[in-house]
Amino acid sequence: MIKLIKPYITFHEVEEDFKRIFESGTFTKGEYVNKFLQEIKTYLGVDHAFLTTSATTALTMCLKSLGIGLGDEVIVSDFSFPATVNVVEDIGAMPIFADVDQDTFNMKSEELEKKITKKTKAVIFVDAFGNPSGISKIKGICEKHQIPLIEDAACAIGSSENGVKVGKIADLTCFSFHPRKLLTTGEGGVITTNKKEIAEIMSVKLNHGAIVRDGMADFINYGYNYRLSELQAAMGIKQLNKLESIVKSRNSIADEYKKRLHLLGFKRQNSLDNVIHNIQSLVFMVPEGMNRDHLITYLTENGIESTIGTYCLSNTTYYKNKYNSVQPIAKYLEKNTVTLPCYDNVDHKYISNIIEKYVRTLVED
Ligand SMILES: Cc1ncc(COP(=O)(O)O)c(C=O)c1O
Repeated sequence: MIKLIKPYITFHEVEEDFKRIFESGTFTKGEYVNKFLQEIKTYLGVDHAFLTTSATTALTMCLKSLGIGLGDEVIVSDFSFPATVNVVEDIGAMPIFADVDQDTFNMKSEELEKKITKKTKAVIFVDAFGNPSGISKIKGICEKHQIPLIEDAACAIGSSENGVKVGKIADLTCFSFHPRKLLTTGEGGVITTNKKEIAEIMSVKLNHGAIVRDGMADFINYGYNYRLSELQAAMGIKQLNKLESIVKSRNSIADEYKKRLHLLGFKRQNSLDNVIHNIQSLVFMVPEGMNRDHLITYLTENGIESTIGTYCLSNTTYYKNKYNSVQPIAKYLEKNTVTLPCYDNVDHKYISNIIEKYVRTLVED
């Protein structure tokens, strides 16, 4: 079976570090966590970073640190993994679904403008599959209306727009280190920000509500523990060092696929000219009239693992029943997109050949 994902880390790469951690007995809040945080800040060029257990906990922390809750509205990109909206629902705020652009799969600026009200307390823009296209424009709108912008960059480590890395564009940015991402620590995430006031709140909240004075903890607030361990940080450091080459390699594989599949009527997710997209997932829109689910089945039968693009959040059972606000483009993309394997040495020629064979069977039918 050709797998959909292959992590960019081997046991061999971390063996020495793991040994060192076990010998030291320091499994948390040690040198690896500090180093990983420092390297993330340097790589992204940001002032503050907070490691978390996932992008989901990272997003939750952002909303909590902004003081968002009951009666507030948060506008979210509608084409995403449900975590994007679940965090809004979880804190008692009302999610407002903004439809996405059919080419980039990201929140449309006109949609955002239309949906801002007096109750809007934050915007969560999703870099769909790691593509940050349009984030700067969305940031301009948020600034005009003085609404905090949270970037759900779960998939977007290594991406940039206008030469600015994702991580320092929005007010708050959340990354994921889940195994489907370019950089994995098993589970994990990080929040980055250049906003000093929010960082101060966050550092207390993420330390059980404590500040440390004269070596003693003073619990000035309530808070949480969403820490990453030393072992996980050791894994992260290794991959951060090779991120740029991973992004280049994924882009060249994606271009090879595009050359073949565009001739067959498939359309790859588009990025704007000034964007570096890390291709966390390689997603194509299937040709008009093609049954995407049949294609996935056919690929499986031919030893190729693939999957859907992602979800139309407003069309998932819970949110559809509760808010009845289905967004048409996100709904179309949910039904008509497919994710293909994309990593070093993947046999993209074989995969393209199988897809071509599938298209031929449809023509013959
Ligand atoms: C856009 C988006 N946001 C949030 C998440 C949640 O990330 P995590 O699994 O790290 O909580 C995901 C996971 O795939 C995602 O794709």
